Amino acid sequence: MTGDRAAGAGHDPVAASPDRAPRDWEAGTYERVATAHAGWGADVLDRLELRGDEAVLDAGCGSGKITAQLVHRLPEGRVVGVDGSPSMIAQASRVLPDAVDLQVQDLVDLVLADPVDVVVSGAVFHWIEDHDRLFARIAAVLRPGGRFEAQCGGAGNIASVAAAIDRLRTRAPWDVAFTGWDGPWHFAGAEETEERLRRAGFVDVRAWLEPRAVHAEDGHAYLRTVVLGSHLERLPVEAHDDFVEDVRRELVAAGAGEGDAVTLDYVRLNLSARRPADAPAPEPLVLDESPETITDRLRGPADA
Ligand SMILES: C[S@@+](CC[C@H](N)C(=O)[O-])C[C@H]1O[C@@H](n2cnc3c(N)ncnc32)[C@H](O)[C@@H]1O
Repeated sequence: MTGDRAAGAGHDPVAASPDRAPRDWEAGTYERVATAHAGWGADVLDRLELRGDEAVLDAGCGSGKITAQLVHRLPEGRVVGVDGSPSMIAQASRVLPDAVDLQVQDLVDLVLADPVDVVVSGAVFHWIEDHDRLFARIAAVLRPGGRFEAQCGGAGNIASVAAAIDRLRTRAPWDVAFTGWDGPWHFAGAEETEERLRRAGFVDVRAWLEPRAVHAEDGHAYLRTVVLGSHLERLPVEAHDDFVEDVRRELVAAGAGEGDAVTLDYVRLNLSARRPADAPAPEPLVLDESPETITDRLRGPADA
């Protein structure tokens, strides 16, 4: 990974408050265990008719599962991948061609030097609280007439995991661990999402929910890496395995697993929209940090 590639150097500054900065992920384990995500991403890409010469942003590209598919679909095009996790961008840079423009950025402060024709995203937006701001930033990087196709966790997503955690929160030691915290997920509904997309200036807006159960053979590794990372951030390292194991056992006890495996009741929220051809120029982003400060903060010790 070159410094420029990871840092998104040469782009405009972005503003972000450290208290809501995206967290880092265990990218190597994610790449191994999150097998369903590539298929979900393929479904999103199949909704697009690409000529092959477009510029496309993968918003929250992670380890590059969707980005790699874009590279194949865009032999004459330009592929940009943005993610808030330095480890994910490092992992993506190992598997993707050098021509892919990979940047560590927080999507709620997204800025690109050049607009793109299409924005795609998979399994990202439910990690972000402020969808109005997120959609406004996505609109801002799309050229007029550009398409936006995405999927994330939606209303009812992994309800069995949420219920397991709720049960654990009534008992020691987990009762005090998450006091005053609503959890990391924003599983939005279809109607509210359509309203938000219209508020952000999109047209031809459509959002819909779709149940997609996932069976994970290594339930512990899957829960730890793909599902519970933000919970673990709030626990001492020595409690991580116990918490993940307690969630896994709760799922098995509730009939959502057997042995080491778990079956998770995923519900995906699909988003489809277009920026109008006569869209006005976006409002400039208010900047309160230099690009160097933001890049250093997001990259953190992982790249130090
Ligand atoms: C479940 S992974 C999905 C990665 C990839 N899209 C895929 O389908 O494999 C979620 C990704 O969202 C990223 N993410 C979460 N919140 C973010 C934010 N505010 N800005 C940028 N990336 C974010 C995480 O760093 C992580 O890589």
